[in-house]
Amino acid sequence: MIVLGVESSCDETGLALYDTQRGLLAHALHSQIAMHQEYGGVVPELASRDHVRRAIPLLRQVFEQSGIAHGDIDAIAYTQGPGLAGALLVGASVACGLGLSLDKPVLGVHHLEGHLLSPLLSSNPPQFPFVALLVSGGHTQLMRVDGVGQYELLGETLDDAAGEAFDKSAKLLGLGYPGGPAISRLAEFGDPGVYQLPRPMLHSKNFDFSFSGLKTAVLTVVKNQTTNICEQDKANIARAFVDALVDVLVAKCMNALKHTGMKRLVIAGGVGANKQLREGLNAAAAKRRYQVFYPELEFCTDNGAMIAFAGAMRLQQHPEAAKRDYAFSVRPR
Ligand code: KG4
Ligand code: ZN
Repeated sequence: MIVLGVESSCDETGLALYDTQRGLLAHALHSQIAMHQEYGGVVPELASRDHVRRAIPLLRQVFEQSGIAHGDIDAIAYTQGPGLAGALLVGASVACGLGLSLDKPVLGVHHLEGHLLSPLLSSNPPQFPFVALLVSGGHTQLMRVDGVGQYELLGETLDDAAGEAFDKSAKLLGLGYPGGPAISRLAEFGDPGVYQLPRPMLHSKNFDFSFSGLKTAVLTVVKNQTTNICEQDKANIARAFVDALVDVLVAKCMNALKHTGMKRLVIAGGVGANKQLREGLNAAAAKRRYQVFYPELEFCTDNGAMIAFAGAMRLQQHPEAAKRDYAFSVRPR
């Protein structure tokens, strides 16, 4: 079965072709980061318009790369939500328009399921069952995953997502967008322990998170500076922020593994690209003989491959899930 995947939930247009026999045939991505950078964050209307501009050229690209014909695909999967409404509508209309013209069935995919299954695309994929930590710009969730479609939410953030905390704290430090990679790079030059930031809910007896207090603590430190904040101080704050956030994420993952009795941990979503988080998780897991799995770096952040893959996995179980019903709707929340 060959599935075309279309991702357009936020600021990345991603197209991909996944074959259940041969694996990933082709994928193409356009990131809008440079376009949104001057505004310090994603501008929804600009995002939608750019998806319109990019979708068809990227579609051509994946068909050229793969060498297959349009008629060779079996279904089209698109991100139905969550995400920006206008941006989602572009991907949905591309998918459904193409489905209608090629007489191929279409299927809406949950963006988070795409992220969740993305580590299975790697050269060293995890076996089910596993505990998954989903850390993106919009979500922070711990899940028990017993198979495709068998997900149990163990806990999630009560306020800001981890990526959101990165982005907002980066803004407070005058760093660019997206904040995650910028803070992470700067933190490498910071001295540990110069600033102490809170580790929210570290000792709570559940698997929930809260990161808005951490961001507020960064704001307080920045405000309390009597002189202009120097580069070394910025790096020290970045270091304190990353250390606090990583401590919480690592501790909760270890608790979830212990609680479920599982041995495998899977990390997905944009923050999963974070170097310090990977180091922290690897060290903690090695001590306890757990295995940690990550998506390939290029599939940590939004992409079409994870949507094509999640669509294909879903269709293998439920072929009837793809329909020749082209009256699409999106689910921003
Ligand atoms: O998964 P993703 O591409 O989009 C959502 O579905 O939200 O995640 C984007 C988030 C942003 O908040 C970005 O700052 C963060 O992932 N991010 C990182 C890194 N790369 C991306 N955070 C920390 N370290 C990174 N290296
Ligand atoms: Zn995402």
